[in-house]
Amino acid sequence: MDVRDRIVVVTGGASGIGAALARRFAEEGAAHVVVADLDEGNAEAVASEIGGSSARVDVSDGGQVAAFVDHVLARHGGIDLYCSNAGVAVGGGPEAPDDGWQRSWDVNVMGHVHAARALLPHWLERGEGYLLGTVSAAGLLNHIYAMPYGATKAAALSAMEWLAMAYGDRGVKVSALCPMGVRTPMLAGDPTGMLDPEAISPEEVADAVVAGLGDESFLILPHPKVATYSERRGADHDRWLHGMRRLRRQIDEALAAAGEGA
Ligand SMILES: NC(=O)c1ccc[n+]([C@@H]2O[C@H](COP(=O)([O-])OP(=O)(O)OC[C@H]3O[C@@H](n4cnc5c(N)ncnc54)[C@H](O)[C@@H]3O)[C@@H](O)[C@H]2O)c1
Repeated sequence: MDVRDRIVVVTGGASGIGAALARRFAEEGAAHVVVADLDEGNAEAVASEIGGSSARVDVSDGGQVAAFVDHVLARHGGIDLYCSNAGVAVGGGPEAPDDGWQRSWDVNVMGHVHAARALLPHWLERGEGYLLGTVSAAGLLNHIYAMPYGATKAAALSAMEWLAMAYGDRGVKVSALCPMGVRTPMLAGDPTGMLDPEAISPEEVADAVVAGLGDESFLILPHPKVATYSERRGADHDRWLHGMRRLRRQIDEALAAAGEGA
């Protein structure tokens, strides 16, 4: 898909990757970009910068997403590309609080489900539509310090695959955006700093998205090495887990040494 002259929605568009996508789609000549976020003020700021519009939407609330999609359809006559990008990062393991697990599921998985539920009738009727889901490399490779994040991003990838399988023959296109570290407020909140050395800018992610939408490839991998790691995981799961344990040990040791030095 070329976004020129298209009606585009970006959730989580007030910050980070979503804001970069909204700006880039406007530069690429989109007819209109709707910036949706819980953060009304920053959504409005991004929208006014690019001549778009904004809305306060909680993507974890199916009623709000349905009303929002209906509103955009009524106002603009269609939605060509819906970027379901809003997400939350909750770290820790099984001990992470239930509300963190629940929020991870509600935003990182149900956000996509609510979007698909609201959009499919429109897209199936006209035989065309594009859903870009921001997942994460964690959807393919897990996250050694964040079980709620890794588990819900794997579920998000599965949801995207499911939609591609079920509706691909009926004109609905689906892509899953799976970056490693991206320099955004979310990454700044990661106390391990493990993804910092190879982190890229949100604008570089937007470059990869424009190219990936052009190719209409299911996986959009702004860090190409994610494809190699994913192949290794598929080829020998035990060997891959062994490598992930070794990585975790190395980071644990580096964090402990940094703590002692502080
Ligand atoms: N930053 C990274 O390293 C990285 C890597 C891989 C994937 N991702 C994914 O990219 C997406 C965007 O993350 P980011 O790094 O730009 O983070 P960010 O924190 O800068 O932006 C996330 C935005 O989502 C909004 N949001 C959160 N919950 C919401 C909800 N319930 N309804 C509506 N909006 C909501 C926030 O208000 C915020 O504006 C997320 O899905 C994240 O998991 C980020």
